[in-house]
Amino acid sequence: MGWHQAKDGRAGPGRARMERAARSGGVPSSLMRPDIANYGGREQAYVKHHFLADYVEKLVFKVASHRDVVYVDGFSGPWKDQGENFEDTSFGIALEALRRAKQAWARLGRGDRKMTALLVEKDPQAYERLQEIIPRYPDITITTFNDDFVKVVPDLLAAIPDDAFSFVLMDPKGWKIDMHAVAPLLSRSNCEVVFNFMFTMINWSASMPNAAIQAGLEALMPATAWKAKLDDLEVVAGETVAEARKRVLVSAISSVVERLGGYPFVMETPVLFPTKDRTFYSLIYATRSTKGIEVFRDCQHATLKAQDQVRADLQTAKRDDLFGTADMFGSPMTGNEFAGRWMAEQEALAREALLNRVPIGPQSIAYGALWPPILAQYGVRKTRLGRIAAELKDRGDIRFLDWGHRKQVPDDGYRVTR
Ligand SMILES: C[S@@+](CC[C@H](N)C(=O)[O-])C[C@H]1O[C@@H](n2cnc3c(N)ncnc32)[C@H](O)[C@@H]1O
Repeated sequence: MGWHQAKDGRAGPGRARMERAARSGGVPSSLMRPDIANYGGREQAYVKHHFLADYVEKLVFKVASHRDVVYVDGFSGPWKDQGENFEDTSFGIALEALRRAKQAWARLGRGDRKMTALLVEKDPQAYERLQEIIPRYPDITITTFNDDFVKVVPDLLAAIPDDAFSFVLMDPKGWKIDMHAVAPLLSRSNCEVVFNFMFTMINWSASMPNAAIQAGLEALMPATAWKAKLDDLEVVAGETVAEARKRVLVSAISSVVERLGGYPFVMETPVLFPTKDRTFYSLIYATRSTKGIEVFRDCQHATLKAQDQVRADLQTAKRDDLFGTADMFGSPMTGNEFAGRWMAEQEALAREALLNRVPIGPQSIAYGALWPPILAQYGVRKTRLGRIAAELKDRGDIRFLDWGHRKQVPDDGYRVTR
């Protein structure tokens, strides 16, 4: 089964629309989304690919307006794919996004962007299947490596032109990665990273006394005191032990990516077990750009909503199996699923952070300096934070010194005080 065109009700990619999209850093036409029919029994991979498809397409389209793009897949697979054309694999999704961006910019007369994919796969059988993708994308320069990702980091670096933008995906089956060895790749100045942090496996391994396991985890999260923090776990009010352990481990890996890669903004989005309200793995995203934060939150919200729908459909299917019924109307959403609850909680925290970060007059801060750290820390979308700021202004809690006539949300240049 193939791709799904996202039903966002928008028209096709006319030139004016594409140029508008380019200016706003968006994408020119409907997003290509993975097809759930290819993910039976591995719904968590659908959620991961939903995020990846939205994110890579938006990123590549934006970046390709001014730079060549190199996609690096450190653990590319194919792995448990069910589609006919690798459309349910990370590299299949990325290659499609590279092609679409290349075609879009060529149609706009903006030249021929060079698109490259560097795909690493250690397993010989999977590597052999990986070769099948190459003739399907003659418009993209694809180089494959049948090796251990960490070992080929110097070759990958050598294959990325200095002025190209690289997007690195690390999606291992496990967690044995020496982050010091990967650091030179992550710390390139024009680079972004998505790392699939196998939380459940890492959390479980962290309790094992085995010295080799402990050393491996230390190589993954060096100098973060992860072990001491787990041993003296502080569980804060309203948090379960599993959530506290996740907080410690996600914060450890985030600080490693921040420190070794030199990223000011590192964020996480959870991928849940298909039928349990617990994190299966965490997607860790690192960027140096405020636009990246904004795009990440948009993609995260769309993905969390899709995740809720998939989980609700699974529940319905389970119930139908049990009672021999068939729901002809799909799975209705109550609004109290994970995404709704999480977003409400994040919004309350973001509102509080916004109030706390606005300085007392006569001092003021530009809104463009205010929103990025808040959005990097809390799971709200930029438009929603802008509306919260407008509500706080209307209530008299904060004051904007430059608010324009009929404006709904603040511009970055507006000064704000309280
Ligand atoms: C979780 S799968 C990747 C799935 C793929 N990213 C996707 O979303 O479609 C991990 C892949 O990494 C490969 N692998 C495991 N260890 C590796 C290593 N050290 N270096 C490179 N590839 C490795 C496995 O054979 C497997 O195909």
